Amino acid sequence: MATTDVIARRLTEVRAATDRIVAPLDDEALTRTATPIMSPPVWDLGHIAAYEELWVCCRLAGGASLHPELQAAYDAFETPRAVRTSIRILTPPQARAYLAATRERTLDALGRSRLGDARDPLAHHGFVFGLVAGHEAQHAETILQGMALAGSGAYVPVRPAGGPPAPAPPAGPARIAIPHGPAVVGTAGDGFAYDCERPAHEVTLPAFTIARDPVTCGDWIAFIADGGYDRPELWTPAGWDWRATEDATAPPFWFRDADDDWAMRDLERERAVDPSEPVCHVSWFEADAYARWAGARRPTEAEWERAAAGAVAGSASWNLGATSFRPLPAGTLPGVSDAGCRAVLGDVWEWTATEFDGHPGFRAFPYREYAEVFFRGGYRVLKGGSWATQEHVASRGFRNWDLPQRRQIFAGLRLAWDGGA
Ligand code: AVJ
Ligand code: FE
Repeated sequence: MATTDVIARRLTEVRAATDRIVAPLDDEALTRTATPIMSPPVWDLGHIAAYEELWVCCRLAGGASLHPELQAAYDAFETPRAVRTSIRILTPPQARAYLAATRERTLDALGRSRLGDARDPLAHHGFVFGLVAGHEAQHAETILQGMALAGSGAYVPVRPAGGPPAPAPPAGPARIAIPHGPAVVGTAGDGFAYDCERPAHEVTLPAFTIARDPVTCGDWIAFIADGGYDRPELWTPAGWDWRATEDATAPPFWFRDADDDWAMRDLERERAVDPSEPVCHVSWFEADAYARWAGARRPTEAEWERAAAGAVAGSASWNLGATSFRPLPAGTLPGVSDAGCRAVLGDVWEWTATEFDGHPGFRAFPYREYAEVFFRGGYRVLKGGSWATQEHVASRGFRNWDLPQRRQIFAGLRLAWDGGA
């Protein structure tokens, strides 16, 4: 049961993470955007404040907005990303002031909330505070995606101090057979969860096999070398069209160095591609072609959740929380699911085969536009979180989604196969 103190601490931690992530950005960098599919970071900052104000200060506590004239500009639906550099929004100092003033009102509202009152569903178990904390964390990751798209050297991360990683247990087999049987999908319990994660429900899965580790850059180099981007039979028709339009011949940010070896621009620098690290920034279409080339497929979301059972977020176990600023080779950190899968949480989001839809018995709460409006719209489910995802939003049940052509997400994949051996 979330107490006032635990919630206040969580909100403070999330704000510290946001501040740390935007600390390297001067006002010019905050107001610029690399591509029309992203917002300038200062829009995210004002939007974080507006969202917190709407749900806590207005809807929960019955107060008024400090910037009623800007609510449309900060509504993600009324103001799509492509126009967010051309509209009037708050300047960086104004956005910081809005964040701080709103947070003061939020903590005041928290102190007056009846967290145990089931007749107040926004307050009950601290729901609305989990909502705004998760929202802020998701936008902090979005800001980092924008920094990655902006190109090499644009971003100099602030890394929190941390000790050396705990030793990882000895690696199990590279392919893990999961017998026919029941699996829990979705999130149960009183803690905060998004509407689309509920209700938790049981499904029965035929036997399948899943990879211990995500697909690596070394695997991907072999795919490219074997003509992976040039062979239409490996791609769906829509994927093949996407590949042509995009002129995709390798993951974004990859290039050949002077010795003709694969190198990449990550958000910090140019460096050699590390064959042992999980491949990142691939689209669902690319992941689909790769899996076909490998004689495999992507897991469904239910299979992924089955394979991830027992994985609980914690920065000592998984590469989470914007500390490494890159995916790490599997086995660097000790996290492992009950079934034996590594890098389940953190490192890279994992594309699943599943189209985003409501779980059976879904009920929108507190608003349809968080998830429901995307159901059956061609969005694909991503699981597990990336190195940029904060601990409190990384869980077995958490669902991310995006269109199959998107590459800005810190996303890779894990392979699966039919049958148990
Ligand atoms: C769950 C990551 C797809 O960024 O569009 C942020 C999260 N919802 N503000 C998004 C979200 C409202 C959402 N994703
Ligand atoms: Fe948002």
